[in-house]
Amino acid sequence: MAVVPYKENQASKKEQVAEMFNNISHKYDFLNHFLSLGIDILWRKKAIRMLKPHQPKQILDIATGTGDFAIEALALNPDRVVGVDISAGMLEIGKQKMEKKGLDHIIDMQMGDSEKLLFEDNTFDAVIVSFGVRNFENLKQGLSDMHRVLRPGGKVVIVEFSQPRTFPMKQLYNFYFKSILPVIGKMVSKDQSAYTYLPESVAAFPDGERFLNILGEVGFNKTECKPLTFGISSIYIGQK
Ligand SMILES: C[S@@+](CC[C@H](N)C(=O)[O-])C[C@H]1O[C@@H](n2cnc3c(N)ncnc32)[C@H](O)[C@@H]1O
Repeated sequence: MAVVPYKENQASKKEQVAEMFNNISHKYDFLNHFLSLGIDILWRKKAIRMLKPHQPKQILDIATGTGDFAIEALALNPDRVVGVDISAGMLEIGKQKMEKKGLDHIIDMQMGDSEKLLFEDNTFDAVIVSFGVRNFENLKQGLSDMHRVLRPGGKVVIVEFSQPRTFPMKQLYNFYFKSILPVIGKMVSKDQSAYTYLPESVAAFPDGERFLNILGEVGFNKTECKPLTFGISSIYIGQK
């Protein structure tokens, strides 16, 4: 059974995920940086650095949310970054951010579903996703469509939470993720479930080798996994 934010709700995972991110969009950036002590910013920067040697000019940021990964991607000096997301609330905050920073001419924030991308085959030099794939309703479908819109030789870079497996990080992580984070998350975001869904969806996500296998199954090659900060997150890389 798929892990969903609102267990009592009959809506699909995709509808529930969009609703949840709409609900927390105003507090999302603050909670992200507060709950991770700012480490999420370093993780995104490191992931983008992996693309430096490839100098991608056309970049697609899937599950862009409020656009932080798209902004980091500007370090690569691209011609265009397109961000797509299914949450209108997250996109609205992202669009305001781009306008305020004067980046709306280079970062284009659009409504879009990773499982049904409205782009031609072989369009982008790089496809990037941070903390998005865990939320897909159909993971393989989302990854296949990312592969489709990537040009041959193009790179995919994905950052996602993973589970530390060694003592004492595993125990510390479990305590923080299951007991501290949901309480602060609920208090600040006022959403009953979002920060309970977070650890549950991380636990259900096929991280590490299992994720590399799925990337291979949908057609990516030269896949690699780079664990970050004791394995709390991982960067996955692949090529079309
Ligand atoms: C945790 S946020 C990550 C946002 C941003 N990438 C970041 O690093 O802060 C996850 C985002 O994934 C989006 N999302 C989930 N499923 C999606 C899908 N099928 N297609 C596009 N976006 C999706 C959600 O709406 C949400 O904005």
